[in-house]
Formats: sequence, structure tokens, C-alpha cells
Amino acid sequence: MNILFVATELAPHAKAGGLGDVMAALPMALARAGHGVSLVVPLHRGLKRAGEFRATSLEMEFPAGGKMERARVWQGKRGGVALWGIEKDEYFDRAQLYGEGGGDYPDSLERFNFFARAAVELARYIEPTPEVIQVNDWHAALVPAYVRALGLPMKTLFTIHNLRYQGEFPAQDFRKLDLPEGIFRPEGLEFFGKLNLLKGAITLSDAVNTVSPTYAREIQKKEHGCGLHDVLRGKGKWLSGILNGIDEEVWNPATDGELKKNFRRGNLAGRLECRVALERETGLEPANGRPIFGMVTRLVREKGVDLVLGAAGEMVQQGGRLVILGAGDPVLEKALTELAGKHPKQIVVRTGYNEGFARRIFGGSDFFLMPSRSEPCGLTQMYAMRYGAIPVVGDVGGLHDTVEDWNLEKKMGTGLRFEPTEKGMRGALSRALALWDTPSMMKLIRQNGIKKSWSWKAAVPAYEKIYRSLVG
Ligand code: ADP
Ligand code: GLC
Repeated sequence: MNILFVATELAPHAKAGGLGDVMAALPMALARAGHGVSLVVPLHRGLKRAGEFRATSLEMEFPAGGKMERARVWQGKRGGVALWGIEKDEYFDRAQLYGEGGGDYPDSLERFNFFARAAVELARYIEPTPEVIQVNDWHAALVPAYVRALGLPMKTLFTIHNLRYQGEFPAQDFRKLDLPEGIFRPEGLEFFGKLNLLKGAITLSDAVNTVSPTYAREIQKKEHGCGLHDVLRGKGKWLSGILNGIDEEVWNPATDGELKKNFRRGNLAGRLECRVALERETGLEPANGRPIFGMVTRLVREKGVDLVLGAAGEMVQQGGRLVILGAGDPVLEKALTELAGKHPKQIVVRTGYNEGFARRIFGGSDFFLMPSRSEPCGLTQMYAMRYGAIPVVGDVGGLHDTVEDWNLEKKMGTGLRFEPTEKGMRGALSRALALWDTPSMMKLIRQNGIKKSWSWKAAVPAYEKIYRSLVG
């Protein structure tokens, strides 16, 4: 099968969250399984500078924003996947992928309309012609609309990594797109009088999937549907959930160059050194005989940051220490920094994006906190388990599907799950602290987690099944 992925992130040089990691792994896993796979991304500044892509002589011309536009095409290759980069410096040579200072760039619609139109143009150009275009999240969401409007034969699969971000704009902005009027309808891009790109992709694509089975069920209900539950239910059997994997080579404590000492599951001695190194690096009160809780996250409400703010005092009182790495909402950044100021020896907060530090948190903390209120899949809990940190997670979405709640009687489980409320958070902390006091249990649960495999291989047959049902 020939598949073209369309996305706006690609780790490590253009990544805002898990989508970047997924685009650096799922297409490659499909290529290894024998498929012809390409991936098209905007040529963001980080990608242009990294040297993985090189300019080709191909220039495409197409209408965008009511005038004729040109895009130069760049090309690269990774893990058997043909990489394509859409060059338009005016739009993509910027400091960030989506925006600076917490909000989106004001010309987001223009930028991602241009990108989607260019991606569809490319789909017509590449050989062999893709049978399926797999479109990811709202930034790429105009692709199914253009495929339909241009009458192209490719089938479209829309993959939702996060339903919360929908790309919603005032109705009059529809004029900025190069689509026929008829597509601004309830069966298309219109939603309650507004232009809604994500909603349009749900209705206009041939199939939709999301990144965990539980999230696929949750989003069909009002509570987690972000307003789109009915639209999603309308897809019937064409909506499914496929659990993400992780790249087990890129995320491997036995080879990770960011760790003070490498370690593997049979011998965790090196992990102790990583833990001491984390205390040193952060200036945490050393070796106080109490656990270190780690957190690596985008700072947004759905990640449950406020739950941590509420429970941190109690955690510190009980001797627990907390290391948080996060970037995002300036209000949350400020609240966390203030919290750390109150407990300098017990709570350390670093803001900004820092992959090396993220890896050292996975490899050095005892518990990994992820109190998400909603989580389409979540990759960090899997990284944490692989690096020997025990996940303590909100019982939602992909966290439900990847973390098995510890069962003392059966001695089974890989972490702790809780209802993401203040009460649930407090309960989970006391469970974690009690677990810490029983080192043999800590060891067992940690081993259970480290032994798990999160290979992308498991997802490949599920995607193949969708492609086959689309192509027939
Ligand atoms: P989401 O995509 O919702 O942010 P995921 O768990 O799927 O959540 O993926 C997050 C990815 O981003 C992981 O690779 C994680 O390590 C990384 N990450 C998140 N915040 C930071 C940060 N501040 N610095 C470095 N890496 C981060
Ligand atoms: C999104 C989700 C996250 C998921 C990631 C990759 O950013 O918030 O849960 O793991 O996409 O699919």
C-alpha cells in the first residue's frame, strides 16, 4: 500500500508534543512492514537548519488565499520513508511551530491552508500515487476538503491526536480558503455558524481514528467530546482507536546519551546514579529517604497541572520531592515557579523545552506524575515506564490503556491510576507514598513496567486493516 502522511511536526527538529514523536516513528514502522510511505511537513526553521532535507528543483504552483502561490519542495529520507518539506519562509521560518507567548500566530489559517493545499498538490505529483492520505490533527485538516473539491481518487484517513484543538475561525474566514461555497455546510466545514477545520476533516474524510481505544470511546460522549461527540458518533464504524507505540530505540535507557549512567532492565544499578545526578542537577535536598516525583508536560489545563499545584504542599510535608519540566500557559508557568520558590529544596520547576532534561527526569525520578483530565494517548507515561519511573496517572484515555493499576493482592500492575480530581490526586499521592515504604513492591511494579513492550509493531496491523477497508 502507498500511504502519504500529512502532519505539521517531526521529531526531533520540529516537535511541540507527542505528534512529533509519532511522525518520527509510525510512518517508519509501516515502511518496515513493506509499505511505500511518504511524509509531508512544512519546512519549519528547525527542519531547514537540521540538514536532513535538501532543496529539489520542484516548485509547485497553486491557488491559496485567493491568489496563485508557489512552494519549493525539499526532500529527505528517514527509515525507509520519503520525507517532503514544503518551503515557504514567510510562513514556516519562524521561532516556533504554532505561536509564541502562549497563543497561535495570527495568520494560522493562512499558514495551514497553504500547507494543506501544497500537500494535496504534492500527493498528485509523487509516484506511485498514494492510495491513502493519512492526515493528522487540525493543522493538516483541510486536506480531505481539497481532496474532495479537486475530485482526487485518494482515500483519506483523519487521525485525531487531540480533539481539543479544532482550528475554529469566524465564518467570514471561509473566504480565505480556495474551496467551493458548498463545502461550508453542516456536512462539511461549518459548525454552529463557524468555520471548524477539525470538524470538517471528521465529516469529509473517509475514516477517522484516534490514538487509543479508550479515547475513541470517550470522545463520543458529551463529557470528553469537546462539542463534537455527535459528529464523531455519526462516523459509526469508520471511527476507531489505535494505541500509539513508542520508538524503543530512540527511548532506550541502555543507550540514552543524556543519562549520567545507562542501565537496562536486568540491572538497575545505573539508575541509582541517575537519581543522584538528578538531585544534584536540580539542587533538590539530597538522599532524604523519600521519593522523587517527576513531571514532563505541556502546561495546559487538561494535563491537570492545577491538581499538582493543589497537592504539592501535602506532598512536601510528607517528605516527597517534585521535579517539573513544562512549557506552555504563562499563567501556569508563573504559578509553578512561585510554588517552587516556596519550597526550594523540595520542588524544582524548569520552564521551557529541554529534551535532555526530560530524559533525565524519566531516568532519575521514582514516580512519574501525569494527572491528566483528558489524554488521547500520552507517550511520556510509556517513556517513564521504560526508564523505570512508576507512572501515577489520571484514569483517562490512553493512560487507562497503557498503565495497569497496581493490585496488591495479585501483585500485578505497572503504576497507579486515579480519578483526576483533587480528591483522587490526594489519594494517589498517599498510595504512592505507602508504596515507597515497601521497597519490595516498588521493585516489582517497576520491573512490571520496564518489561512491557511499546513497539509500534503492534499498531501496524490495525492501520493496515483500515487502509485495506478504505481501498477495498
Ligand atoms: P502531548 O503530545 O499531549 O504533549 P505526549 O505525552 O504524547 O503529550 O507527548 C509529549 C512529548 O513532548 C514527549 O516526547 C515529551 O517528552 C515531550 N515534552 C513535553 N514537554 C516537554 C518539555 N517541556 N521539554 C521537553 N520535552 C517535552
Ligand atoms: C497529542 C495528545 C497525546 C498523544 C499525542 C500523540 O498531543 O495530547 O495524548 O500522545 O498527541 O498522538
